[in-house]
Formats: sequence, C-alpha cells, structure tokens
Amino acid sequence: MNNARPVILKLGGSAITDKTVEASPRNEIINRLAEEIKRADLDNLIIVHGGGSFGHPTAAKYGIQDGYKEEDLTQKFGCAETHHMMTILNGIVMDALILHEVPAISVAPSNCIVTENRKIKNFDDTVFKTMSKLSFTPVMYGDTVMDENLGFTILSGDQLVTYLALKYNAEKIIIGVDTDGIFDADPKTMPEAQPIKHLTLAELKALQPKLGKAAGTDVTGGMAGKIAELIPAVEAGIPITVTGATKGLSIYRALTDKSVLGTVIEKT
Ligand code: IPE
Repeated sequence: MNNARPVILKLGGSAITDKTVEASPRNEIINRLAEEIKRADLDNLIIVHGGGSFGHPTAAKYGIQDGYKEEDLTQKFGCAETHHMMTILNGIVMDALILHEVPAISVAPSNCIVTENRKIKNFDDTVFKTMSKLSFTPVMYGDTVMDENLGFTILSGDQLVTYLALKYNAEKIIIGVDTDGIFDADPKTMPEAQPIKHLTLAELKALQPKLGKAAGTDVTGGMAGKIAELIPAVEAGIPITVTGATKGLSIYRALTDKSVLGTVIEKT
C-alpha cells in the first residue's frame, strides 16, 4: 500500500492543445509528456489536465461557466457536449499514457464532484483513494460539474489541483504550461517580458493582477485566473514549479527534483 504524499502534475490546456484552433490536440507533445512521465516512474503521481481548445470553446458558446439558465433550451445539451469534448481530449492523453505503460486510470470530475458557487463542495473519493493506495496514477481534468446553486458550471483543472493538494497534503505541485514559467508581464503580448526564477507568496500576490489572459477562448481566466486558484496551496506551504511542458525534459526534470527552466513558488 502506498501512503506517500502525492505529487500533482497539471498539464495545461495551452501545452497539450493548440488553443487557437478548436479541438486540436498537440499529439507529439502529449506523447513526449507520456514518455517523460513513464521515465520519471513515480508511484505517488496524480495527473490533472486542462481543457484547451477542447473544453473552453464549447463552454464559452453555451455559457456553462455562468450556470444553468432555464430559458435557454440548448444550454443543457451544451453542458453535456462540453463534458464530451473533455472526454475526447482525455482519451487522447490516456492513449499516450497507456501506450507508454503508465498505470493511469481516468477519473471524471463530473462523476464524483459537486461544487457550490463554483467552489468544490463534495468529492466522493472512495474509489480515488483506493486507486492511489495501489499506486495507480489517477488522471482528472477540468470538466463540467453539477453545482448546488448554479445548476452546473466549469471546474478548472487548477482549482482541482489545489483542492487535491490540500486534501492529500501533496509534496509538490508541477504546472506544465506553454511558456518557460511565469514572466513579469504577458510574454505572448509583451516581448520585453522577463522570466521569473523564484516567487514568494507575497511576490506572487503582487504579480497576479498583471498576468495575461490566455490566447484563444478561456472561460477560467488565463494565467491570472490560474494563479488565483493556486494561491491557497502556496499558503499551505506546498511548493509549486511552473515550467514549459512544450519543451523536452522539463516535466521529467521537475518530477525528479532536478533544476528546470521555470518558476519555483514557495511560501517564503
Ligand atoms: C477548463 O480547465 C475545462 C473546461 C473548459 C471544460 P482548465 O481551466 O484547467 O484548462 P486550461 O488548462 O486553462 O486549458
């Protein structure tokens, strides 16, 4: 039985999909990431992936993030379609992990999580806990979830990462994105933006409002929204490394505690 503190890896939608073209996976990157995950060989790993160009466009089209509007008859279908798009992306990620012989099992948040005003209220983790004890690698993702007040909403992978990290006292969090970590401005729109190697909690909070929106549609708030979700984990003393998942070996190196190009965030 495995009682080790988990390592939580988020594979950002911006890294594993092309956010500028609807429903386009970056297959080569997904395959390379699966290879790096296998090579790191952790038996306490939890993977969470984002929605990218699979989740966000459909969610935005039907306003799923804003909850159920009873007068809008297409919205319920839109909620189902958004979840379905996420299962397609999840299938592509799972294909790569299984091909590389990672003992990964997909766990759909829509099937075990309920939110209240967009915040996780209940997580029925009976199966998840047993899986982790047996050293399977659970794979969750940003998803549509039922919400006690709003009817339904979007749960971001980043909120999920922080929730899991706090609930199971994670050893560390690694966030794989499509830039080399966090910059002092949005590197996609400001060429003079400089990468940041280390951030304390106080520095992170000061920087958060200056961070950019995502390229393409993003219903969960781009980099600024992501960081806001991650702050409670830093407050609890769980270190976070933000690094480029689109570059070879960064995720392998981060998983195996080697130095990486990116940003380390620590409480002090
Ligand atoms: C979004 O999850 C999920 C849906 C839109 C259904 P995230 O917010 O974690 O996705 P990325 O990483 O920004 O793409």
